[in-house]
Amino acid sequence: MLFRSSKQVILTGIRANNDLTIGNYFGAILPMIDMAKKHSKDYQINLFIPDLHSFTTPIDHSKLQEQIMHNLRLFVAAGLPLDSPNVHIYRQSYVPAHSELAWILDCFTGVGEMNRMTQFKDKSKGLNDDRVSMGLFNYPVLMAADILLYGASYVPVGDDQSQHLEFTRDIAIRMNEKFGDLFTVPEPVKKQHEFFGKDQGLRIKDLQNPLKKMSKSDESGKGVVFLGDEPEKAAKKIMAAATDSLGKVKFDWVKQPGITNLLQIYALLVEKPQAEINARWEGETKYGELKKAVADAMAGFLQGLQARYEAVDMSAVLEKLNKSEAEMNKVANNTLELVQKAVGLR
Ligand code: TRP
Repeated sequence: MLFRSSKQVILTGIRANNDLTIGNYFGAILPMIDMAKKHSKDYQINLFIPDLHSFTTPIDHSKLQEQIMHNLRLFVAAGLPLDSPNVHIYRQSYVPAHSELAWILDCFTGVGEMNRMTQFKDKSKGLNDDRVSMGLFNYPVLMAADILLYGASYVPVGDDQSQHLEFTRDIAIRMNEKFGDLFTVPEPVKKQHEFFGKDQGLRIKDLQNPLKKMSKSDESGKGVVFLGDEPEKAAKKIMAAATDSLGKVKFDWVKQPGITNLLQIYALLVEKPQAEINARWEGETKYGELKKAVADAMAGFLQGLQARYEAVDMSAVLEKLNKSEAEMNKVANNTLELVQKAVGLR
């Protein structure tokens, strides 16, 4: 096809969030950037901000624009290779074909199909139907359009998104059966896991309650380290982390979740294998020393990241966005036109 890349496409969308935590950083942002670096020679990599997906549930719209730019800036601070010609970074709403293809796909999607999506069920649970948006309901259709416009084969998604990926395959196959070869069908979830490696079960826990995931919705903020926290303040949060009374360090999520969480965070911060960190600390009886080491590493990490964030040249980011968006519009419009022809609109 004219504008389509000769390389296979890896595509992923990262939602714009504010108040990102170290859990988001090590669990989502860094793996995404490592993936881009690793594959950017042999694949075309599409990383986009699904900004149209940002308000399927209510948000503060006065902050959205700032959040989008903040996230892009953060990705660059975290090492996103802006200069690679195979890496494309774009905002969904700057490529209008996404919305238009979503509408067309909507007309071939069953209401029952969407009703069965577990994320929709979870997010709409207990809410009055009139308060649940149509955007939340057909969120997976827009996601399918995001993927199919570029003929992506590989889409790294967490477990919460694998049902949406399966739907993307279903609708692609359905359209191909009805209209002939329109879409590249993305690989099934199992193949995706083989390609990317099933996530290694990274789970950064709340510092105050290590039984639950570290999440920005924690109200006190004491158990959560935000990427924008002052390094000193973050170090204090580590020093105040809940541990246990067993008095001996061991990597054990069941018996010593607090200590284990600290060991894990430490390995991530200093970029060493978990086993090496465990070998150094297991058997240690002074929790304070472990905490001090993690706190120092945390402060150093945040200082570095925040300095890199400040140093990001936003004009270079904008230039890259504009370039990618121009190219992606060509690819996406090309696919859209095929679909428009197939359904009789052209
Ligand atoms: N739904 C994804 C999430 O919530 C974000 C997303 C939107 C996405 N469109 C996508 C991910 C296309 C991969 C491919 O995290």
